[in-house]
Amino acid sequence: MTTSIPHGGSLIDRRQYGADLPETNVQIPLDEMALADLELIANGAYSPLTGFLDKRDYESVVSSMKLDNGLVWSLPISLPVSEALATELTIGVQALLEKDSVAYGWITVSDIYRPDKEQEATQVFKTDDEAHPGVAKLFERQDVYVGGEITLARPIEHGLFEAEALAPQETREAFAEKNWETVVGFQTRNPVHRAHEYIQKTALETVDGLLLHPLVGATKKGDIPADVRMKSYKVLLSGYYPEDRVQLSVFPAAMRYAGPREAIFHALVRKNYGCTHFIVGRDHAGVGDYYGTYEAQTLLKQFSVEELGISPLFFEHSFYCNACEAMATAKTCPHDSDHHVMLSGTKVREMLGNGEAPPKEFSRREVVNVLMEAYRSTVQ
Ligand code: ADX
Repeated sequence: MTTSIPHGGSLIDRRQYGADLPETNVQIPLDEMALADLELIANGAYSPLTGFLDKRDYESVVSSMKLDNGLVWSLPISLPVSEALATELTIGVQALLEKDSVAYGWITVSDIYRPDKEQEATQVFKTDDEAHPGVAKLFERQDVYVGGEITLARPIEHGLFEAEALAPQETREAFAEKNWETVVGFQTRNPVHRAHEYIQKTALETVDGLLLHPLVGATKKGDIPADVRMKSYKVLLSGYYPEDRVQLSVFPAAMRYAGPREAIFHALVRKNYGCTHFIVGRDHAGVGDYYGTYEAQTLLKQFSVEELGISPLFFEHSFYCNACEAMATAKTCPHDSDHHVMLSGTKVREMLGNGEAPPKEFSRREVVNVLMEAYRSTVQ
């Protein structure tokens, strides 16, 4: 059985499927990010959170990456509402949480407050530049935050990914069935290219299993859609990974692109899913040039493994080296960069857009075929 203890000591479960909804006229509309957060609070992925953050926790998280009780928590999980709706809310009231007129559950309002978004942006994203997709989203969302415990009264559907949408209790059970004691989690919002495969398999040499845990919630324009990525993961796993060493499951959260802070969040959440280790490579959860290549690693190193409760595994920028005839990093390859096959995400998308296959040293044929097929069908 996995040896990882959920953050805060126990797995939160705020699901009461089929429960009667409270009789109330107050409804809070959720955006895609908030609906995903609702599910992840309810199923324990965000343990120890039991609801959207109240002002004390919010301010503590923004300023010092800790909840008010001292536990490490790096991203504010907030529920924004409009000024008009805020005037209808009072402390203690129960409000339905709705998306597209479907009530998924409710919140018992314990706080209503106005965040300092400039402060949130500069602390969490290290910039208030609205060209940053996470900052843009922050400012686009409503201006009043509501805190309070939630209950999820109906399951949230995951469309094409239903079979892979395992809750933390379920991934833990899957690991137990496979007799894995140590499990490394891998976050990704990309197809698994050779560099990703290399660091996953390097990690897998020292632990029992790999949780391939692609984020499938909202991502920015230009990122490869989750359904295409899922196809690419499946062809790759079936051809190149031992079945009894990998668990594929999806992480339905929205991407924040908060780089270092999101790396901490990603690690803590994977602990809740039962992982004992978590991979952090180059520019984890980064976007553009906002964060340094190893800034996420540096921030994670400021916290002890005891505080985090999960061991981060750090990897340098990896690439295929034509002289080594192998995957490598600066730590293991003595040759200069002329020998290295490195492509930026932008370059790969540009090649795919032109119907050009990225080299096999960068990405396996089977993966490239899935990606090229997807690009062809969107162009036509
Ligand atoms: S992320 O936004 O989800 O972090 P991505 O899917 O590209 O983006 O990365 C998944 C994980 O692989 C992250 O930990 C990232 O740091 C790591 N990674 C991506 N590319 C490389 C690479 N070439 N070398 C080392 N690590 C990498």
